[in-house]
Amino acid sequence: MATQKIYELGDMPPLGTVPEEMYAQLIRQDRFGEPMKGFAIERVPMPALRPDDVLVYVMAAGINYNNVWASLGSPIDVIRAREREGDTTGFHIGGSDASGIVYAVGSDVSNVKVGDRVVVHCGSWDRNDPVAKSGGDPMYGPTFRIWGYETNWGSFAQFTRVQAHQCLPKPKHLTWEAAAAYMLVGATAYRMLMGWAPHQVEKDDVVLVWGGAGGLGCQAIQIAAARGAIPVAVISGEEKHDFCVKLGAKGTINRKKFDHWGMMPHWKDTEAYNKWLKGARAFGSAIWDVVGSRKSPRIIFEHPGEDTVPTSVLVCDTGGMVVICAGTTGYNAVADLRYLWMRQKRLQGSHFANDEQSAALNDLVIQKKVDPCLSEVGGFDDIPRVHQAMYENRHPHGNMACLVGAPRTGLGAGE
Ligand SMILES: NC(=O)c1ccc[n+]([C@@H]2O[C@H](COP(=O)([O-])OP(=O)(O)OC[C@H]3O[C@@H](n4cnc5c(N)ncnc54)[C@H](OP(=O)(O)O)[C@@H]3O)[C@@H](O)[C@H]2O)c1
Repeated sequence: MATQKIYELGDMPPLGTVPEEMYAQLIRQDRFGEPMKGFAIERVPMPALRPDDVLVYVMAAGINYNNVWASLGSPIDVIRAREREGDTTGFHIGGSDASGIVYAVGSDVSNVKVGDRVVVHCGSWDRNDPVAKSGGDPMYGPTFRIWGYETNWGSFAQFTRVQAHQCLPKPKHLTWEAAAAYMLVGATAYRMLMGWAPHQVEKDDVVLVWGGAGGLGCQAIQIAAARGAIPVAVISGEEKHDFCVKLGAKGTINRKKFDHWGMMPHWKDTEAYNKWLKGARAFGSAIWDVVGSRKSPRIIFEHPGEDTVPTSVLVCDTGGMVVICAGTTGYNAVADLRYLWMRQKRLQGSHFANDEQSAALNDLVIQKKVDPCLSEVGGFDDIPRVHQAMYENRHPHGNMACLVGAPRTGLGAGE
């Protein structure tokens, strides 16, 4: 029987059968703007496989903040960036989290085979990358790219093209949608908390987690708790308290009770600076109240950026680390350097994770020590809407996923 040119959504091709075209929720430059405007469903040809590539039939796709940025076309225009590297498609198929079934493999692939059920981590690099080839951390290599953000052919389509090393075993106890929800945020949190020796999270460390009910934060709380640490979560509404505590947080702090956020005043403006300092110190006391002693955080899990970094640097313990992977509220993070050098603190940048860190996080999920915290499950049509909710910080706690090839199995049903 001849292969169909395209299969309708949810109409699964026979295993290993690859049609000529597929449906994708894609972004074009003339639609750049808020997610409701940026995404649209279009028919596209199937991507060509390179020797180390794998074609995965996408059962579900996880939703992350990076494709909010892709839709906005800011801070970088991902389409223009790729055109400079030779991409001629004119579109961006985003999606940096997936669960699915391997449908085809390139000629050099040996770690997965057609039919394998996988989850995909979003770290990609050229196999000839000079850093990766010399045994270094590929995260430092010049060819490192986040799949489905900096690369095309992400998971917001019926099929996605990934590199073989990105594929990890799908935890058997999870539904397709739950399996698609955690890897990007979980592995990022894992590297932040475990990748920066000697500041790996240890038993009894106080760990301050900004956005504790968010995608990154819910993973960070669980990883810290699994290490025997004392996570303290920051939230913006009391309705998020129970969620964080159930994940292992010792308690929460509602950031709405403070008003000193944003870039701190210049130190020469004594009156304004002292007002800021009073607010930041009160926040530090709130951490001690949760901990139950005057023990400050050894690790601060940062991502809001401009609004919060001045406070993070101040309240971090002597010899501790503020580790940051984003600047959601802005990039001009200022710090009072007197606290940084006199108390010998570390401000450490961190970005996604390598193969080993992604696999370590996946193992924690397989061992049920980390839950994906799946909240909302959408369909393929919902991809713009759930990104819009994320953009407006109206999305539910934890992580969201959208079904692509999978039927709605209901939360909790394993596969
Ligand atoms: N570099 C990387 O590898 C990497 C990986 C993953 C994500 N990221 C980035 O990290 C950021 C967060 O991602 P996410 O998936 O966790 O997003 P998320 O699910 O939206 O969670 C972020 C949380 O931050 C908190 N927040 C929002 N505005 C804040 C403010 N002004 N001050 C303090 N907290 C604030 C919110 O919690 P409350 O309102 O309850 O405080 C929100 O739940 C995004 O910018 C994303 O692109 C980077």
